[in-house]
Amino acid sequence: MNKSLRTPLIAGNWKMNKTPAEAAALISELKPMVAECSSSTILLCVPFVDIDAAQKAACGSNINIGAENVHFADHGAYTGEISASMLTEMGVKYVIVGHSERRQYFGETDETVNLRARAALDAGMKPIICVGETLTQRDQGITAETVSLQTKIALSGVPAEQMKNVVIAYEPVWAIGTGRTATTAQAQEVCALIRDVIRGLYSGDIADAAVILYGGSMNAANAADLLAEPDVDGGLIGGASLKPIDFTVIAKAAEA
Ligand code: PGA
Repeated sequence: MNKSLRTPLIAGNWKMNKTPAEAAALISELKPMVAECSSSTILLCVPFVDIDAAQKAACGSNINIGAENVHFADHGAYTGEISASMLTEMGVKYVIVGHSERRQYFGETDETVNLRARAALDAGMKPIICVGETLTQRDQGITAETVSLQTKIALSGVPAEQMKNVVIAYEPVWAIGTGRTATTAQAQEVCALIRDVIRGLYSGDIADAAVILYGGSMNAANAADLLAEPDVDGGLIGGASLKPIDFTVIAKAAEA
């Protein structure tokens, strides 16, 4: 398997943090710091209302601006939701789908994650589909079953030709925002498993080209080791993406 087939993706997930003015200020600070990161894609997924200000602040730089969720309907009576066409009209190319916080607090299921991912793909966006086990599931020894089922349902009905636009993020729920990172071996094991699932569903070529991220307390101190694993093609970074210095260290680790 050749890791050089894949462009690393270093993606920030700001969650519900930063007003538009704060977003612009953070990106203005970050812009020169990551300017030399040319071998990976740098992405910040920001709250919907920050997208415009973030894009303006990132203009002319190598920082891409993405969204944190998308609804599956194109329009309609879905108060509080945002459609794929609303995002693409703003020039958004990446969107997180199925983050564990959405599953845990907002009732999203494997089925709605699948619908949202397909809506993003149909609109020409790249969904970053999040999968991962809870601590109970890990302790019960059902990590592999859980993650492979989540991946299979998320990709159900996704045709092979759209797979080049799919990103999968392995985020063990117990590692998110807890400061407790998966070991490099745990991250590698599950990212490799996800690649095997894709191989089984599609083909070896599609699996080898798939970008698979690790997320969950990735930080300036542990990023280089995690990113060195053969099946870890980047990171989905929460807390550390709000700190320009830390995020820059992570982005530079992906260059090595
Ligand atoms: P964390 O969040 O880096 O703060 O653990 C990761 C995520 O939720 O995507």
